[in-house]
Amino acid sequence: MKSLICNNLNTSICFNSKAIGITYCTLTNASNGTGWPKISDEVFDGHAIDWNKFFELRTKEIEAIKSGTARRECQNCQQIEEADFEDDKKIHYILLSPWQVCNSDCIYCLGHAEPRKETDINYKEFYNDYVEPYDMLEIIKDMIRHDVLAPDCEIDFAGGEPTLYPKFDDILNFFIDNNFKNIIIHTNNIQYSKAIERGIKENAVSLMISIDAGTKKCHEKTKRVKSFDKVWHNFKKYSHAKKKDYTKRLCTKYVIVPGVNDDKKELEEFIKCSRKNGATQVALNVYNQLLNEMNYEEHLLKHLAEISDFWVRKAKENKLPYMFFPNIEYVYKKLNIHLP
Ligand SMILES: C[S@@+](CC[C@H](N)C(=O)[O-])C[C@H]1O[C@@H](n2cnc3c(N)ncnc32)[C@H](O)[C@@H]1O
Ligand code: SF4
Ligand code: SF4
Repeated sequence: MKSLICNNLNTSICFNSKAIGITYCTLTNASNGTGWPKISDEVFDGHAIDWNKFFELRTKEIEAIKSGTARRECQNCQQIEEADFEDDKKIHYILLSPWQVCNSDCIYCLGHAEPRKETDINYKEFYNDYVEPYDMLEIIKDMIRHDVLAPDCEIDFAGGEPTLYPKFDDILNFFIDNNFKNIIIHTNNIQYSKAIERGIKENAVSLMISIDAGTKKCHEKTKRVKSFDKVWHNFKKYSHAKKKDYTKRLCTKYVIVPGVNDDKKELEEFIKCSRKNGATQVALNVYNQLLNEMNYEEHLLKHLAEISDFWVRKAKENKLPYMFFPNIEYVYKKLNIHLP
C-alpha cells in the first residue's frame, strides 16, 4: 500500500564531521536549508551504536512522515513522496564523510581543511576535530557483527579527501573482505590507494574523480595545487587494474566554474584525456553556489547549455557514456529545452 515516505531516512546512515556527528539523513531539505541533528546520546554513546534503539527511533520518524507529523527538519522536503515501502530494519546506503582534510584547494569547494603533519603544533586537536570524531572502523565492524547492512548496501566515501583518512585503506579492505560490492569513492585522485586498486580488481569499487579541467594550466587554476600529471598517472594505474568482468564505473567528473574552466578547449581535452586513460564514463556539473548567485540570468543559462551540448558532442565522438548532475538538468529545465 502506498503512503508518504522518505527513502533517504528509511534506508541511510551518514557519518559526518565532528560538528554534525552521525545522522540518519544524508541530505539537506531544500525547502528550508536544514539538515538533521546527530543521533541522540541514547543511540550513540560516542563509541558504539545501540542498533535496537537506532531502528526503533527510525521507525518512529518514518511513522511521523507517514502521518503528516514529520519533525521540522523534514517538513516540505523534496524527498518525501507517495510510494510503497516496507521497513526491513536494514541500512541500504552509508555516506562516509567524517573528515574535511584535503590535499587540493578547489576554487568552488566550501569547507575543506589543509592536511597537517604530526609534528605541527596543535596536531592532536586538529586530528580530533577533522579526522577522528569517532572510530568509524570499529562502528563498521559492529554493523557487520549485528548484521544491520543489506547485502547490496551502497557504500559512498566522500569528505574532504577520503584517501587521506588514516584508516581509509583499512575500512575499504574491511568492506571488500566482507563481500560488499557496491562501493563508490569520490576522490581527487592525487593519493594512490592499494585498497582502491584491489577493489577495482575485485569488481567492488567505482570511482568518481573530480578533475574539472583538460589541461595542466587550467587544472592548477581550478584545483589550486599542482597535481594534473599525478592524477592521470594514478587513473591509468587504476584503469589497468580492471579485469574483463569489471562492471563498475571509472568516472571522471567536471564541475564548471564560469570564467575559470568553461573554455571549450578544456572540455574537449578533458574528454580526450578521459578516453585515453581508460574512463568508462564522464560526468558534468556546474558548481552549486552559481545557481543561487546568478539569479538565473538567461545569457548565463544559455552559455551553460551551449557548453554542455558541446561536451556531450565530444563525449559521443569519443564513444564515452556520459551523465549530468542535477544542476545541469536544472539549467535545461529553466530554459525549457530537452537534455541532450
Ligand atoms: C566534497 S568532494 C569530496 C571528495 C573528493 N575530495 C573529491 O573532490 O571528489 C565530493 C564531490 O563534491 C563536489 N563538489 C564540491 N564542492 C562543490 C560545489 N560547490 N558544487 C558542486 N560540486 C561540488 C566535488 O567535485 C566532488 O566530486
Ligand atoms: S525528509 Fe528530507 S530532511 Fe527528512 S530525512 Fe528525508 S531527506 Fe532528510
Ligand atoms: S578535492 Fe574534493 S574536498 Fe578537496 S577541495 Fe576539491 S572538491 Fe573539495
